[in-house]
Amino acid sequence: MKKSAQLIQSNNDECVMMNKKLDANCNSRISNHEVISMPFSSVSEAISWGAKMLLESIGDASLAERESKWLLESSAVSAGRDPLFLNQPDLTARVSSVFRSHIARRSRGEPLSYVIGEASFRGIDLFVTSDVLIPRPETEQLVDEILKLIPKAAEWQILDQGTGSGAIAIAVALERKLVHVTGIDKSTSAIDIAKKNVKRYGLENRIDIIEADIFPKEGLFDMIIANLPYVPDKVDLPKEITEWEPVLALRGGPTGMEVINRSIELSNKFLKPNGLLIYEIGEEQESGFREHWQNRFEFKKDLNNKIRFMIDRG
Ligand SMILES: C[S@@+](CC[C@H](N)C(=O)[O-])C[C@H]1O[C@@H](n2cnc3c(N)ncnc32)[C@H](O)[C@@H]1O
Repeated sequence: MKKSAQLIQSNNDECVMMNKKLDANCNSRISNHEVISMPFSSVSEAISWGAKMLLESIGDASLAERESKWLLESSAVSAGRDPLFLNQPDLTARVSSVFRSHIARRSRGEPLSYVIGEASFRGIDLFVTSDVLIPRPETEQLVDEILKLIPKAAEWQILDQGTGSGAIAIAVALERKLVHVTGIDKSTSAIDIAKKNVKRYGLENRIDIIEADIFPKEGLFDMIIANLPYVPDKVDLPKEITEWEPVLALRGGPTGMEVINRSIELSNKFLKPNGLLIYEIGEEQESGFREHWQNRFEFKKDLNNKIRFMIDRG
């Protein structure tokens, strides 16, 4: 019998653990993320319990049900089980315990990707924690724009500034087999996640991940690609973002354009002749960048018809 199950016994329909009364769901919080709990008797019981718990924060019954199912699958994986094991009628105490903890985190508003520990980006599964931004759909489009600029046979050196989870670097390296990417980030903990993701895709020989402020100590690149922080310091962001995602990934200075402008100013030293630059920017920033860089850049819209990308073709 598993330890968590041993600790709990049912006593006149009340749950007790070492003589301590537990709550109605037989839960006792023993650490931040671990909850000792009675195992659910079936997968469907667990999913409907999770959906009920999530309904208040999510507000949409079918989404709550779907998320509950995803969280149960991820709980099985976190507990070291194959998700196929969920076809069996009984759930182990360990899986039930991880699941209750995941549902509790999601109910408090933590983004699903952080709870699951993974995000999907252009079909690539990336490890994510609250140390990195959850890659956004606009950034998938940034990769489309980047790929349009790189010929298939190009053996380019590419610099990915603000690599975060490594999403852009990995997506580009997977689609352009001859390029070498250097991913830079200022955050030590983001660097750890990016390295894990690079290893996951076996790209250690073609992607270097380096902790630095925008540029490495040295290097010459054919292209600089960047999704650096660009939200102005004083612009309000939704609570779901500010409460959970890293501020270093979001705030770009008083106008939001400071980090990108610094990258452009220093780029001459790191770009080969006719080297290319491409940045993701904020939807309100076109005129600011146009004025500052005297129409040096071409601007492109995202799928929501908002200006989102800025390109200098060298
Ligand atoms: C908007 S996130 C982008 C993450 C990832 N590239 C993506 O698209 O999902 C910006 C990233 O830039 C990093 N960053 C912020 N300021 C930086 C700086 N001065 N030098 C290097 N990286 C920086 C943050 O830590 C964060 O990981």
